[in-house]
Amino acid sequence: MKKTRVLSLFSAMALVPAFASAQEAAEHPTYAKEVSRIIQENCQICHQPGQIGPMSFTSYEEVRPWAPLIQLKVASKAMPPYQYDDDKGVQELKNDWRMSQEDIDTIVAWVNAGSPFGNPEDLPPAKDFPAVGEWRLAAELGQPDHIIKSSPWDVPANGQDLWWEPEVDAGLTESRCIKAVETLPSRAAHGSTHHANSHFVVKNEEGEWVRGDRLSEYAFGKLGEKVPEGACRRVPADSKVGWSIHYYPDGTAVPNDQVSVGIWYYDEEDNFNEDEVYRQDLRSYNLSGGGDYLIPPHGKLMTQGFHSFDHPVRLDSWQPHLHLRGVAMSMEIFDPATGRRELVSMASDWNAGWNHSHTYEDGFQPLVPANATIILTAWYDNTADNPHNPDPDQWVGAGQRTTDEMSHAWIAVTHLDDEAFETMLAERKEREQRTLAGSGGND
Ligand code: HEC
Repeated sequence: MKKTRVLSLFSAMALVPAFASAQEAAEHPTYAKEVSRIIQENCQICHQPGQIGPMSFTSYEEVRPWAPLIQLKVASKAMPPYQYDDDKGVQELKNDWRMSQEDIDTIVAWVNAGSPFGNPEDLPPAKDFPAVGEWRLAAELGQPDHIIKSSPWDVPANGQDLWWEPEVDAGLTESRCIKAVETLPSRAAHGSTHHANSHFVVKNEEGEWVRGDRLSEYAFGKLGEKVPEGACRRVPADSKVGWSIHYYPDGTAVPNDQVSVGIWYYDEEDNFNEDEVYRQDLRSYNLSGGGDYLIPPHGKLMTQGFHSFDHPVRLDSWQPHLHLRGVAMSMEIFDPATGRRELVSMASDWNAGWNHSHTYEDGFQPLVPANATIILTAWYDNTADNPHNPDPDQWVGAGQRTTDEMSHAWIAVTHLDDEAFETMLAERKEREQRTLAGSGGND
C-alpha cells in the first residue's frame, strides 16, 4: 500500500510542471492541498478499486484526466449521487452525502485554473475506509444481535441486471424492537450488489402470508439506519423476510452468494420499556390510488397521494420511488386547522439509479398533527428531454419492470399521542427561541 503511494507521488511530480510561483499556488486551490481532501471525503468510498464507481480517484494521475467531467458532475450536483434539494424543506439530514457549496466552488476553481497539482508536502495521508464485508455500525454498537441472510444464489460474472427475490424465515418467536439495522453484501459480491431491500412477510387474520413493513434498504455506500430513541420498529414474531436484491454483474462470478441484514435490538440496558415507546413503521405510501395511470408518448404526468392519520405522527425518513420517467417528487403537509401548507422535502432532479432514504436529524423530523394531510406529488417526463428516458414513443403504465412506472414513497412514521406531540412541539419552539437569542435576534 505504502509503496504504491510513494510511486504515484513521484510519477505525479514527473507529469506536472512544477507550479510556477508561490503566488500562483496561493491563488488557486491545488490537488495536493484542497482537492485531494474533498475527493477523499466525498468520492473515494465509491471511486476506488473494487467499488462501484466506474473509475478510481485515489491519486492525482487518476483524478486529473477526469477533471473537466468532475467539474461538470459536481457543479450540477449529479455527484456525489444524492438528489435532495438544498434550498427547500428540512435540511437537517443524517448521513447526508451532499457537498458544501464551498467545496463545490473549490473544485470548480481548481479545474478552471488547469487542475494544478500543487506542493506534494500538502498531500493528506491516504484515508482509511471500513473493510469491505464488515458491519459499519459495529464500531459504535458491537456485532449485531441477529443476522438474517438471503438464500444462496449464483451471481454470474457477466450479463445484465438481475433480480433475486427469495423468502427466508426471520427466526424470532417473540417480537422485538429494532435499535439499528444494516444490510451487508458479501465481500465477494459487494461490487455487483447494487440494491438489496428486505421486508417482512406476515400472516394475516385468514392465515395467508402477506407483505408487511419494510425491514431494511440498501444502496451502495449507504450506512445502516438507526431507529430514534423512544420509538419501536418491530420485527414481528414468526415472520418471514422477503428480499429484493438487484445484482449487476461486475466481472466476478460469485457462487452461492448471500446478502445479510444485521439487527441490533433495544433491551433493558438501553432503559427500554416497550410500554413507554411509540410504534414506528416503514411503509410505502401511494401517489396514484390503485396505480392506474398512463403517460402518453412525448407526454408528461403528475400523480398525487394524500395520507392522513387520526392521531399525530412524526415523519422520520422519506424515500421517493419512481422509475425512468420519474423526474421529481415532493412531500408537503397541509393542516386544515390552520390552513397552512408546508413543503418539507423535495427531490427535483430525481434519478432512479439511486435510492436514498432521507433520514431527518433527531429533533427536525416533520411533525404532522392529527387529521392533517401528507401530500405527495410526483412528476413524470416521457419526452426526449428526460435523459433517462429509454423510449419516448412508448405509452408507459404502472408496473414492476424498470421500463414501467412506479409512484410511491417509503416513509418511516412514528405514531404519537397528543402528549408526546405537544412535548415535541414545545421542545422545538424552545430551540428556535434559543437560536434566535443566540444570533442576537437579527435574522
Ligand atoms: C455512492 C457512490 C458514489 C459516490 C459517493 C460518488 N460517485 Fe461518482 N459515480 C458513481 C457511479 C456508480 C458512477 C457511474 C454511474 C453514474 O454515472 O451514475 C459514477 C460516475 C461518476 C462520473 C462519470 C460520469 C459519466 O458521465 O461518465 C464522474 C465524473 C464521477 N462519478 C465523479 C464523482 C465525484 C467527483 C464524486 C465526489 C465528489 C463522486 N463521483 C462520488 C458512484 C459514486
